[in-house]
Amino acid sequence: MKKDVYILGIESSCDETSISIVKNGVEDVYTCVSTQMDTHANFGGVVPEIASRMHTENITFVLEDVMSNSGISWDMIDAIAVTYAPGLMGCLLVGIEFAKTLSLIYKKPLIAVHHIAGHIYANNLVERIEFPSLGLVVSGGHTELILLKGDYDFEVLGSTLDDAVGECYDKIARIIGFKYPGGPNIDKHALLGKHTYDLPKPMDDDSLNFSFSGLKSYIINLVHNEKQRGKEVNVDDLARSFQDVAVEQLVRKSRLAIEKYDSSRMIVAGGVSANAYLRDELRNMCEEKSVHFSVPPMRYCTDNATMIAAAAYPLFLKNDFSNFTLNAKSHEYFFDKKD
Ligand code: KG4
Ligand code: ZN
Repeated sequence: MKKDVYILGIESSCDETSISIVKNGVEDVYTCVSTQMDTHANFGGVVPEIASRMHTENITFVLEDVMSNSGISWDMIDAIAVTYAPGLMGCLLVGIEFAKTLSLIYKKPLIAVHHIAGHIYANNLVERIEFPSLGLVVSGGHTELILLKGDYDFEVLGSTLDDAVGECYDKIARIIGFKYPGGPNIDKHALLGKHTYDLPKPMDDDSLNFSFSGLKSYIINLVHNEKQRGKEVNVDDLARSFQDVAVEQLVRKSRLAIEKYDSSRMIVAGGVSANAYLRDELRNMCEEKSVHFSVPPMRYCTDNATMIAAAAYPLFLKNDFSNFTLNAKSHEYFFDKKD
């Protein structure tokens, strides 16, 4: 009988310290996430120096929680996986050095996982990704439509020409005056508002590319102009108007890709896939086109180590291990990585 594979994953690229044990790349045995969100909210965004110090303070307690409550002992663990890119340099280094130390002490192979691969493989925690599938990657640094042809065999069909959609959510949240984290706050306030602002509709073409910077600049100017005239914007209505336009672009391009590539399956990945309106609109579009739709539950859309351990599984099967020269890469773009 084939032996079960248990991978311990570590994620510390931004403001969540998380460790998880995943069985066979699909089953979340136990996950602990310690978030620093409340601390950074006082500063309006993640303060890198504070974030890395907090990871150092928290990571041992997070591991202790996992090893005490998962029911898994060190001798059952087959490999240690860690996020090596992209993210805040100091934060990534805490996770990487912790992973190397565990790998050395317990003599377990080390697996380097790209954060975006983690977001993609979070889908395996719901139902195993079947190939080929169309993927929409939406995060703070990525906006791509991809063709998933096999494990780690992804072709970019279209991408943003400027800002990533998550970056746009965060900038607009800040200009409107919403607290950090911006994306989830726009999501919430949009529910309370009406689409009253007439905003430009970017990339109204047949390509599979996206653009968000024009929309962002338009909204920044609009808010400044209103302020100069002594008027206040209606924040809920502006959040709703922006979200409608941004999500419409993501859904329209996804529909185009489904048609162009005759896709019968679609997955979504990345932090912005936590957006309730985007999830609903994509699900409706896929239903209409009889396309099988899959999106991870909320807890696997925001940063977590479960997705890192899940993404490490196909690498484990290929014996794709790292050595102790592994270093953090704060800006590595996932789809540039060639095997
Ligand atoms: O994938 P992720 O962790 O980013 C990178 O790794 O770059 O996602 C973070 C992004 C942030 O821009 C955040 O505002 C956005 O995901 N986000 C959301 C929501 N939750 C997180 N955006 C819109 N609606 C949400 N509910
Ligand atoms: Zn993320």
